Amino acid sequence: MLPYGRQTIDEADIAAVVEVLRSPFLTAGPVVAKFEEALAAKVGARHASVCANGTAALHLVYAALGITAGDEIITTPITFSATAAAAYYVGATVRFADVDAAGNLDPASVEALITPRTRAIVAVHLGGMPVDLEAFHSIAQRHGIALIEDACHALGATYHGSPIGSRSDATVFSFHPVKHITTGEGGGIVTPSPTLKHRIDKLRAHGIERDATQMQSAPDGMWAYEVQELGWNYRLSDLSCALGLSQLAKLDGFVTRRRAIAALYRTELARVFPDGGVTPPPRFAERESSYHLFAVAIDFPRFHTTRKVVTERLAAAGIGTQVHYIPLLQHPLHAQRCPDEARRARPGADQYYARTLSIPMFPAMTDADVGEVVAQLARALREQP
Ligand SMILES: Cc1ncc(COP(=O)(O)O)c(C=O)c1O
Repeated sequence: MLPYGRQTIDEADIAAVVEVLRSPFLTAGPVVAKFEEALAAKVGARHASVCANGTAALHLVYAALGITAGDEIITTPITFSATAAAAYYVGATVRFADVDAAGNLDPASVEALITPRTRAIVAVHLGGMPVDLEAFHSIAQRHGIALIEDACHALGATYHGSPIGSRSDATVFSFHPVKHITTGEGGGIVTPSPTLKHRIDKLRAHGIERDATQMQSAPDGMWAYEVQELGWNYRLSDLSCALGLSQLAKLDGFVTRRRAIAALYRTELARVFPDGGVTPPPRFAERESSYHLFAVAIDFPRFHTTRKVVTERLAAAGIGTQVHYIPLLQHPLHAQRCPDEARRARPGADQYYARTLSIPMFPAMTDADVGEVVAQLARALREQP
């Protein structure tokens, strides 16, 4: 079975983890800071904090920015549940805007939802394609709210030549195995703000402060620390960070291969579907996707078939697919949490969801795999029941 995404692990990754296993620290040791420094340098950010997963990273950012009950964030309905669920963790409400043809948050629909309670816009770079960051920075600045990038799909992507992670108040990454690099489970946050980094690090480890200059009472010994607020154990172990460091060194190669696969898909799709009906993801001159996903838009009625039938036929032929994403308000949790939101129409999200299908995309795919996926897609779409 060719899955829609998969990690690439080599002997250097395995050796890096084994080295930590033989060292005195399995967690809270020196490799954590090394991974953080390397991550910040890679994406052109001043500070990085790594944590248990991308969901924890979102939770930490929302909490560290002081987003709380009564506050609102605005995000996209075409995202993974965690983007919104992490806002519920801090008691905030979510308003869902609409999306453009790339499935990315539409700036005009975001601005229309801003209220005095809005604290942040959370922009998701869907599938690795950056949103229109300049438009969002301008909206955020005008309204005095934070811009958070959920870049769980977009490590290695660029906007006007700058890496994703180098521009906003906070940018969040995931190191789940289907993402660009993996630590098993893992997440990261980058920010230009030392204050935000300090707060994130504190909340990541139980709200504990160890810096004597930041304590409320004078420390009475070497052991002293203060639990200053309610935090969590969201740390990432040295074992995971060793894998992350080793993987990060290969990020450029992974992204180059993903882009080559995308280019090959475009050529094959144009050749096999010369009359259209299957459209590759849009491209923009100023934004370069890092292709976490390769989501095609399929006009299923034109082929007199449905996505259900096509995905079943592809699975029978050994081709894994996925849909990113079911609009969040179609899930019971989000509909219950945001009852007023369900009443507003989102034609962009409806159209995107009706047509999208993620086909296999990962660096270890061969050129022949790409040809096979497109050939099987053509068979699945054209075969009569
Ligand atoms: C857009 C987006 N945000 C957040 C997350 C959460 O990341 P994690 O699975 O590492 O918790 C994911 C995971 O798939 C995601 O796709």
